[in-house]
Amino acid sequence: MSHKKFDPSRAERLLAPERYHELKPDILLQRLGVRPGSTILDLGCGNGFFTLPAAAAMGDGMVIAADMSDDMLSLLKQRLTPDNIQILKVEEVKMDIDAGSVDAAVLIALYHEFKSPLDNLAEIKRVLKAHGKLLILDWDPQSEKERGPAKVHRVRKEKALDDLKASGFKVESHENYTPDMWMIIAHSKN
Ligand SMILES: C[S@@+](CC[C@H](N)C(=O)[O-])C[C@H]1O[C@@H](n2cnc3c(N)ncnc32)[C@H](O)[C@@H]1O
Repeated sequence: MSHKKFDPSRAERLLAPERYHELKPDILLQRLGVRPGSTILDLGCGNGFFTLPAAAAMGDGMVIAADMSDDMLSLLKQRLTPDNIQILKVEEVKMDIDAGSVDAAVLIALYHEFKSPLDNLAEIKRVLKAHGKLLILDWDPQSEKERGPAKVHRVRKEKALDDLKASGFKVESHENYTPDMWMIIAHSKN
């Protein structure tokens, strides 16, 4: 596995209360603007930091919790998971999800781990409904804080914005969400 990929032995820290306090999954859901009943793809879901709050907010909707790591998915399975979570093992790029079936996709601390981001964006666009939303939250290489993935592996927000435009997404907003993480919200143009 590539050195960029998250080490599952560090998974516990993803669920630290300070992380919930800082990243505020409920605010992310609000910003995404999805209604209960929607289908959300939590790509690179890990052990479910965002998956569980999203499932609680989606009511009779569905969260597809997708990850390429068996270790991370088995940690998620060990947690109490409601019926509206579908756990899905995916490949580096390909996902066994029907085209045009997802209302919104969320990528938290994942973008910098992609080997070929344009291929991932094309696959995400394939599964999104027309005008489906995409939220990307990831590490700023210019952050001064000493935590998170090595700076050399991080992706600048401007590079992700270029990737999105090249992949047929329309950017709705972009910002520095925390002192060391940027956020982009976009939707697929068709
Ligand atoms: C840093 S963890 C973040 C997990 C979760 N999103 C969170 O914020 O707590 C990144 C996760 O993305 C997964 N991952 C890396 N590349 C992936 C890919 N191409 N497709 C799906 N999952 C991937 C890793 O296995 C890992 O579980």
